Amino acid sequence: MQNLNEDTITQAVIAQIADTPDPRLKRILTSLVQHLHGFAREVALSEDEWLAAIQFLTRTGHMCNDKRQEFILLSDTLGLSTLTMAMNNRKPPGCTESTVFGPFHVENAPVFALGADVANGAKGEPCFVSGVIRGIGGEPLPHARIEVWQADEDGYYDVQYAGLDQHQGRGVLFADQDGRYHFRSIVAEPYPIPHDGPVGDMLRATARHPWRPAHLHFMIKREGYQTLITHVFRGGGTYLDSDAVFGVRSTLIADWVRHEPGQAPDGTRMEIPFYTLEYDFVLNPAAGSSRGGRA
Ligand code: BEZ
Ligand code: FE
Repeated sequence: MQNLNEDTITQAVIAQIADTPDPRLKRILTSLVQHLHGFAREVALSEDEWLAAIQFLTRTGHMCNDKRQEFILLSDTLGLSTLTMAMNNRKPPGCTESTVFGPFHVENAPVFALGADVANGAKGEPCFVSGVIRGIGGEPLPHARIEVWQADEDGYYDVQYAGLDQHQGRGVLFADQDGRYHFRSIVAEPYPIPHDGPVGDMLRATARHPWRPAHLHFMIKREGYQTLITHVFRGGGTYLDSDAVFGVRSTLIADWVRHEPGQAPDGTRMEIPFYTLEYDFVLNPAAGSSRGGRA
């Protein structure tokens, strides 16, 4: 294997991978080499451009820490997250659609009783969220685990505040025996994804904005059903047609209804205007479950 040139290098690399014991790894690496080399040939990659790409990826890595995941942002803004999510979450009609996970989920969010205020001090207009977790036939599913997370009115998640020592705008609740859930939080507002790093540079270089339309994140788990990772988007808002991370599904858009001061759904007397949001989720039975699910 000497004197490799632009016509023979691709096959030479693939031949070196040929003995990879794990067949899936072999398939992925072989295809990666083919596409990577094909891409370099197609754009006639210059050495300066190759170096710029190396430097871009290096800066992306350096930007990552336990609070910031620049590679997920890169995947999101290149549409790779939505593509991967869509291929792995094909569902029967009627099920709630999935969308991107995003980088702001945290493990061990606090558990709240139904009706609690998951804002927990996050700034924003009050909002009362409720709905039912259902199966595909419309039947309520008792006791599903519902995790919610959201940004505050300034567009920041709790993890983006240095020194904040409590969770805000996130929590875990369990639906009741009739599949119902309700909690208090704050109104979702549009916000820009972090754009002070290499991903922001890429967005500017390609004349793109960093904004996401207003949304709440949900992750819903129940035994026998496929875990649902999704958002509910705020209808009528900006950026629904230009989400920086390509996450919007029209079936996930809902109305946040504004109310004048008065009695809130949980009986609280509100002295300021407040919002309500009602949204039901339909879970897909897990593949192979006795509920007959299809993935
Ligand atoms: C989010 O919605 O939290 C999010 C998703 C993708 C990139 C950045 C933020
Ligand atoms: Fe978000």
